[in-house]
Amino acid sequence: MHRRKLLKLGSFGLGALATHKLFATGFSGHAERKPIVLSTWDAGIEANKAAWKILRENGHALDAVEQGVMVTESSQNCCVGLGANPDRDGYVTLDASIMNGNGDCGAVAFLERIKHPISVARRVMEKTPHVFLVGSGAQQFAVEEGFPLEKQVLSSDAQKTYDEWLKEHHYKPQVNIENSKGQQAFAPSKLSNNQWNHDTIGMIALDGHGNLGGSCTTSGMAFKMRGRVGDSPIIGAGLFVDNEAGAAVSTGLGEEVIRTCGTHLVVEFMRQGLSPRDACKNAVSRIIDRYKNTDKIKDIQVGFIALSPKGEYGGFCIHSGFNYAVCYADTYNQLINSEFIYK
Ligand code: GLY
Repeated sequence: MHRRKLLKLGSFGLGALATHKLFATGFSGHAERKPIVLSTWDAGIEANKAAWKILRENGHALDAVEQGVMVTESSQNCCVGLGANPDRDGYVTLDASIMNGNGDCGAVAFLERIKHPISVARRVMEKTPHVFLVGSGAQQFAVEEGFPLEKQVLSSDAQKTYDEWLKEHHYKPQVNIENSKGQQAFAPSKLSNNQWNHDTIGMIALDGHGNLGGSCTTSGMAFKMRGRVGDSPIIGAGLFVDNEAGAAVSTGLGEEVIRTCGTHLVVEFMRQGLSPRDACKNAVSRIIDRYKNTDKIKDIQVGFIALSPKGEYGGFCIHSGFNYAVCYADTYNQLINSEFIYK
């Protein structure tokens, strides 16, 4: 039996139709649903609303996953978009990827001063013969495509957090691990509660036409080494989509997801017949297995969410605290506590 708990009610803002924001624990959707959209963390609730506006009008999954995460990129979230925490040299550098169910994909990494990296990733996919542009080349392409070059300034929150970090600035790249209430249970360096040092929004959707799509966008790890790129823009690591097998997206310590080709692994497990939930659990176990007989796993958090071509969904993470938002009706946009291996 799945345990469900009502946390709070919100409004979806779609005409007269109210939508409830709920909180469920360890829930996976075995029913077949179409259309449907899932995204990582509680910021996913707002992102899902934008995606759902497209899906409910019989729009395409690719448009939904782009528009959805653009909300988070604009939100001055500490970990996504230009309002996010900088690298250790004080610059915000952004990574993003997008993919449809036919294998078309695009990505950007180490991109500076562009507000919507996800849209640049989509242009890479649609307007170049390539998949991946990085750094100054990605920025040059964005400007050529008409994206404005924003000012190189930190948001006031990011400036404060960076100033605090600079007081000690020892380089120890670790991710925060949240507790089961979504609060920070483990904070590396000198960050105080609620100053996350990583987060990503990953979104996967199935549209009414039966097409899957996915997107992933992040500023990566706070105070990272300049030039560090995580899993989010790497197809098969942070994001993988295949109309025949399913879609998956990841969040957490990108290096571990890259080492295991995490989302590709999840999708291949689904191709072999596993449910989205079990596929995510197996991929999490693969990461954990690398660290057996050590205590290193206590500092490593990774979460996956996945969606089948029929609209079944699920998620799994290493440590408790990861959550994701699921929306499949005007009246259903729910935050779910992921199942986990370690409490
Ligand atoms: N998962 C985001 C990152 O490691 O950059």
